[in-house]
Amino acid sequence: MKRSRPGVSSLSAKNGVARTGTVAPTLATPPTAKSIHTTARRLSSSTSSTPAVENRRPVLPEFSLKDKVIVVSGGGRGLGLVQSEALMEAGATVHVIDRLPPPSEDSDFAKVAARGRDELGTSLTYHNVDVRDPVGLNDTIAAIADKHGRLDGLVAAAGVQQETPALEYTAEDADRMLGINVTGVLLTAQAVARQMVKRNQKGSMALIASMSGTVANRGLICPVYNASKAAVLQLGRNLAAEWGQYGIRVNTISPGYIVTAMTAGLFEAFPERKKSWPDANMLGRLSYPEEYRGAAVFLLSDASSFMTGSDLRIDGGHCAW
Ligand SMILES: NC(=O)c1ccc[n+]([C@@H]2O[C@H](COP(=O)([O-])OP(=O)(O)OC[C@H]3O[C@@H](n4cnc5c(N)ncnc54)[C@H](O)[C@@H]3O)[C@@H](O)[C@H]2O)c1
Repeated sequence: MKRSRPGVSSLSAKNGVARTGTVAPTLATPPTAKSIHTTARRLSSSTSSTPAVENRRPVLPEFSLKDKVIVVSGGGRGLGLVQSEALMEAGATVHVIDRLPPPSEDSDFAKVAARGRDELGTSLTYHNVDVRDPVGLNDTIAAIADKHGRLDGLVAAAGVQQETPALEYTAEDADRMLGINVTGVLLTAQAVARQMVKRNQKGSMALIASMSGTVANRGLICPVYNASKAAVLQLGRNLAAEWGQYGIRVNTISPGYIVTAMTAGLFEAFPERKKSWPDANMLGRLSYPEEYRGAAVFLLSDASSFMTGSDLRIDGGHCAW
């Protein structure tokens, strides 16, 4: 059966979170996006004003990102935006790089930015740059580092997905996928590392790969996407090897299936996946973007100070079977 979905699809839509729960998890009382988000907000509920944030003691001080400046590519929405909010909650100043048009005042990005400013005493700034544009990247990231006099980290979340059988893949589509998901990650990490090396400053990077960089997904036909994520895993190891001498740590995060508007759309096109995807991992359910908040803060903070060249796979046990 042909399962071609031509064209590049976004992995998720508004804020990357399908909050309506169109996918029925198969195990009893699993968390929902709402419950995870509510818990995260409750744990930071003392953050009603800037002084409260400043006086709050972190559970473990090594997880604090206070005064750190972090770039998040692909943070205009989805996983990158959720991680940007988590980094701000840990104290970081966050600069997002994305190719989406500048966010409107009523966008999810604007709401997260307002929370950063009004509740968390930090900031979230948007930069309209395509990760395939090395000049734009280097100029923007140099300006960020100049403004703050430092640059501490990167979460590279910008990426695209395309589901097309290998027999039908065009050279143009393959080049576009690899150009964003691999070359784009390299160029972003390079621009950030150049500022760190120039300033003789240590730092940390988390590149968003996927469990699909390790396994071929049963019933999900995206050969070049999976190859691109395998390349991100190997790129992470090589950047870690090259930049360890500068005190720059580089690790990858490999998420499993995340519930997003895009995956909800796939379930409409291929209803059998509502059961087969959750059944493919040990927890019997899909994940939500909020379940990766801790991973980003861990990898960007001193809590992971001896960790580099590693992959943090968070897939409900999908690849362990
Ligand atoms: N959703 C999933 O199930 C899943 C699973 C594993 C890994 N991932 C990875 O997580 C990351 C985020 O995915 P998401 O689900 O939030 O998707 P998303 O489509 O909601 O977010 C991706 C963001 O990257 C930006 N982007 C894309 N191309 C760009 C470019 N050339 N320059 C600058 N920005 C660009 C998009 O505008 C968007 O804001 C991706 O790298 C994806 O491969 C997602």
